[in-house]
Amino acid sequence: MELVRPELFDFHGVAMIKYFTDNWENIQNFQARPDDILIATYPKAGTTWVSNILDLLYFGHMSADRQKTIPIYNRVPFLESSLPTMDSGKELADKLQTSPRLIKTHLPVLFVPKSFWEQNCRIVYVARNAKDNVVSFFHFDRMNLLHPDPKDWSSFLQRFMEGKMVFGSWYDHVNGWWQKKQTYEKLHYMLFEDMIEDTGREIDKLCSFLGVSPSAEEKEKITGVVQFDEMKKNPMANYSTCAAMDFKISPFMRKGKVGDWKNHFTVAQNEVFEEVYQKKMKDASLQFRTQL
Ligand code: A3P
Repeated sequence: MELVRPELFDFHGVAMIKYFTDNWENIQNFQARPDDILIATYPKAGTTWVSNILDLLYFGHMSADRQKTIPIYNRVPFLESSLPTMDSGKELADKLQTSPRLIKTHLPVLFVPKSFWEQNCRIVYVARNAKDNVVSFFHFDRMNLLHPDPKDWSSFLQRFMEGKMVFGSWYDHVNGWWQKKQTYEKLHYMLFEDMIEDTGREIDKLCSFLGVSPSAEEKEKITGVVQFDEMKKNPMANYSTCAAMDFKISPFMRKGKVGDWKNHFTVAQNEVFEEVYQKKMKDASLQFRTQL
């Protein structure tokens, strides 16, 4: 199948591509169940990592086959996706036999189907510092042939600051979800950098939010399985089974670090970025670390 890189267009004020808006009415009418767990992120914030952790926490004790034979994107369907290469996220979610159902989304908070709020579902949001997030996004758009062509790094960075990325502005995304957390109790807001610093501690916090209590042995096993190097070589977690991604350009599990932005930003780019950042990130209660 010939893959066509889509155009970015304005969709109710958010930059999107057709692969995430084509099925819009069905997505908006999605029927959530009270025990559904939504994993929400801006792209490249650590979605796959947290998805894998949740899948292991809930279903790690089921048949070993689950983790060995079903790619993460089928265990945790991507709600709004309607890609030419696979079943739509909505179809996959509707077909899930597990309870709870783990569902992934990159939607800004205002686009989340209302049923998730009506059912008072638990939501896990993961955010990552803007600088590493944009670097990861750049390499992802290079290798993901179903995203717009990122062109050169400097123009990509400029477009990131303008919110012209798939799923729109990083600044609006992380702030919108942060504000939601202030009024919606069942939202756990996690940071990629905290996960890197101490994965076990963050899994503990996640467990207490979810109300699950794995044994010390189970927890240790999960912490091991979700280490970067382990996930990188696991074909069911590393997206190597995904036809639309060209690993010769860049792997999905690329570096998994905090601070790789320093290898990409020039001093001048960093200065401009900081200036834009101060203007857009006024809420002092939301702080990110760009190095550990
Ligand atoms: P890099 O491109 O910086 O390496 P998402 O799953 O939201 O698309 O995010 C992908 C990013 O998370 C990639 O970042 C990837 O390497 C990183 N990542 C995925 N699994 C990880 C893990 N177990 N530990 C650390 N980073 C991980």
